[in-house]
Amino acid sequence: MTILLTGGAGYIGTHTCVALLELGYDIIVADNYINSTPLAIDRVKEITGKNFKSYDVDVCDIPGMERVFEENKIDAVIHFAGLKAVGESCAIPLRYYRNNLDSTLTLLECMQKYGVRNFVFSSSATVYGTSQNMPLDEKEPTGCTNPYGWTKYMIEQILRDTAAADPEFSAVLLRYFNPIGAHESGLIGEDPNGIPNNLMPRILNTAAGKMKALTVFGNDYPTPDGTGVRDYIHVCDLAEGHAAAIKYAVEHKGAEAINLGTGNGYSVFEMIHTFEEVNHTPVPYTLEPRRPGDIATCYASPEKAEKCLGWKAKRGLAEMCRDAWNWQQKNPNGYKA
Ligand code: WQD
Repeated sequence: MTILLTGGAGYIGTHTCVALLELGYDIIVADNYINSTPLAIDRVKEITGKNFKSYDVDVCDIPGMERVFEENKIDAVIHFAGLKAVGESCAIPLRYYRNNLDSTLTLLECMQKYGVRNFVFSSSATVYGTSQNMPLDEKEPTGCTNPYGWTKYMIEQILRDTAAADPEFSAVLLRYFNPIGAHESGLIGEDPNGIPNNLMPRILNTAAGKMKALTVFGNDYPTPDGTGVRDYIHVCDLAEGHAAAIKYAVEHKGAEAINLGTGNGYSVFEMIHTFEEVNHTPVPYTLEPRRPGDIATCYASPEKAEKCLGWKAKRGLAEMCRDAWNWQQKNPNGYKA
């Protein structure tokens, strides 16, 4: 089976490439490298010892994407390509709606034209908005608080409507919680453009001395230690969840939203202390007011993923912290020389 991964050179894309290659799938990557680099593709080949085609193409580029489908027999698509910074989406919403929706519509029209009917979509727990009913399950009402989240919400609806119109179409909408960590080799990992927003990249910058101290956004939340609680999931567990989703998509029809989370919530302080303990490296921090838009607690019900995909996260917080630091130490400037 041949799987096309759009955005396959990105953080979750590269880890999913490794997981699929190691399971014996053939893969093709389509990426415009706006938030990634061809070096990441070389690292995937180094890890797996396998070769595969990659296309430097924007998924919004209709002729460019039709060439990918013309030149290859594609059995399924995993769609990672998209802009994904919450704060940036508030500053330039039209760029987010144009890019994320246009690329998805182009991809789906190509799939229809070339008879490809299996689709796995990189959705996000952000579609649950400010819901407080923890653990979050897939029946929870959805609604977003930022343009990035609304693009995910709208694409989920596009996929449901496509499945309703085409009984042969199959789509799995994977709602990621908080992916962190890196492949144990330290050859691939998260390489945010510019100053990162998320907790783990900022912990890594602090531990590496690039930031004087981590800012802890609020310790007055209604949580055990007052700091924000999230469902952190090892990126390799997430990648394996995509492989399970491909299998499910091929064996089923219709559109199915499925959480990819561990079902465990960890606070910012728990993350800091685990990181320091595992890596014997201090993470100095300062307490700051809450970050606008943050919620106190967010973690998944992993039941549907286990029932439908036969998948459950295996790696714990210590392994996430160890593997993240290993990537940072081996690549102090990410993929940049
Ligand atoms: C986690 C916790 C912060 C940074 C975001 C996106 C979401 C998804 C995952 C794409 C919170 C605290 C953070 C810092 C801190 N991405 N924090 N100091 O906000 O849960 O989710 O990433 O789908 O769409 O919104 O992740 O890592 O930014 O924050 O105290 O310097 O860490 O307040 O409690 P978040 P995060």
